[in-house]
Formats: sequence, C-alpha cells, structure tokens
Amino acid sequence: MAPRALILDCDPGQDDAVALLLALASPAEVELLAVTTVAGNVPLARTSENARKVLELAGRRDVPVHAGCPRPILVPLETAEYVHGETGLNGVELPPPSLPLAAEHAVDAIVRLVMERPPGTVTLCPTGPLTNVALAIVKEPAIVPRLAEIVLMGGAKELGNVTAAAEFNFFVDPHAAAIVFECGAPVTMIGLDLTHQVLITEERLARIRAIGTPLAEAVAGFLAFYNRYDRERYGIPGAPLHDPCVIAHLIRPELFRGKRCRVDIETEGRFCRGRSVVDWWNRSGRPANALVLTEADALGFFDLLVERLARL
Ligand code: BDR
Ligand code: CA
Repeated sequence: MAPRALILDCDPGQDDAVALLLALASPAEVELLAVTTVAGNVPLARTSENARKVLELAGRRDVPVHAGCPRPILVPLETAEYVHGETGLNGVELPPPSLPLAAEHAVDAIVRLVMERPPGTVTLCPTGPLTNVALAIVKEPAIVPRLAEIVLMGGAKELGNVTAAAEFNFFVDPHAAAIVFECGAPVTMIGLDLTHQVLITEERLARIRAIGTPLAEAVAGFLAFYNRYDRERYGIPGAPLHDPCVIAHLIRPELFRGKRCRVDIETEGRFCRGRSVVDWWNRSGRPANALVLTEADALGFFDLLVERLARL
C-alpha cells in the first residue's frame, strides 16, 4: 500500500517533536508533505524554529515548514512554558536552524496541498491548537470533502489538564476546535483518556537513550525535561507522551481502541471553555462526528517508537 500523505500541524513542544520524528522514521507508512506550525505550547516564532531544528536533527531539510497563526481566533494566546520550558524544547541544546521557513503561510499551504493532491488522499494531523486547520476550512471549504481524515491530539472524555474541564489544545483555541468538529470531515480524536496510558517511565526513557545515536540522546534529553512537570503534578511514573500517538495510530491502528460518538466543543462558559463534550452513550441521539480513541497498548507503542527512532 502507498504511504498515507500527511500534514503535521504542530506547536513543538517535546511531544510534538517526537511525533515529527516518528513520522520521518516511517516512510513506508506515511509521507510527510509539510510541517505547519501554530502558536500553542510556546509562541509561533519558537514553534516554527523548533520544527526546523528537529528536522535538521533528523537530517531532513527537504520537508518544508510553513509558519501559521500567531494567536487563537478569538481569545488571547495562553502558552505552556511551565510544561515545555522557555524554548518549548528545553532539555536539549540544538543549533539554530539554517533551514529557512517556507514563504507560504501555513493556512495557504494546507489548502494548496489538499486541493492539488487527489481527493481523499491527504490526512491532517494537528497536534497543537486547531487555529490553522480551522482557518483553512473557513478559507477554502472545498478542502473538507477532499480530506482523507483529520487525526488530532486534543480533548478529553474525562478530565482536563489545563483546567478541570479542558485539555490544553482545545482550551487554547476553543472556537477553532468547534469549527473542526463541525466541519463534516472524518475526525479521530486522541485525547487525554488515551494519552495518560502512554507514560514515559524511567525504563522507557532508558530504552530510548540506549539506542545510542546522537538523535536518541537528544530525544532522551528533552523527554527527561518534559517528564518532570506532569510526573510531579499527577504523581504518576512518567509524563504522558501525547502527540506521537497521532502518528502511531496511522502506522499501527491496532494499538488503539475507541468508539464513534458525537463530540461538541464548549466555546464559552465560566468553567468549561474548551471542554470536549463526548456523548459516549449517545444521549443526544445525534449522529457521531468523531472516532474517540480511549485505549492504547502502551507497550506496543513504545516498542514501535524505539524501533523507529533507531532508524534515524
Ligand atoms: C497537548 O498540549 C501540549 O502541551 C502537548 O504538546 C499536547 O499537544 C496535551 O494537552
Ligand atoms: Ca502539541
């Protein structure tokens, strides 16, 4: 089977960086058309720089990086340096990138790539706030029926992580998330219920370090930093490795399980801004608009990740 063409729309972020590396390491399954960046974990200038640093780390200067939106649609940007560090990639010192940003805006790149490729062949993989993807849908609605799928990291059926109710990516740009869930394209939601089963334990971190390449050493370095905040906050043996689950699902769907449901995004509210309201028991009787994945085979995931990182 031909590899699936995908666009990674991200806000690196250590876990976004691992998602990018997993995609680069899996050319038989996925063809990375472009990386598009958005403001999220850190401001846009940082996410755009980090994406290029990670591509250069992997020796892949051929993949274009398009910078996108510097802020959410309606609400002020809130970042997460408290998790990712000031640069968004704390834990490793990577050289400043020499790869220039592509001239085209991320929103235009998404529209162009979806429109120029055959219908039903491009998968969007957002791992940050959904601002770029939502604006691409608004700018050119004709992309929607041409998408193969949108496989995203965001939301939660149960508890949030930035507030009691909401997960970070949906909280940061709730209006964009609402546009994406209402657009009519097939959506797969990989939320906190699933990613909190995929923990970077010390043993798993040691497996990555033991690969022994400079790239694996860099990944282990920045994951060790990323591990600190959530491990302490939740009292768990390692931080959840959220974003690479998106790419792992495309490569090995059998590692994940869930259910098709109706999902609506709360855009307002005193307590619930950015909440993904997952109608798991179909109380509303409305048709499903997303596949909500809630279970992961964490061991299988880390086996895949270690095997793939060793290829780079
Ligand atoms: C999401 O928020 C960010 O901190 C991570 O990169 C991930 O995409 C988890 O809530
Ligand atoms: Ca992210």
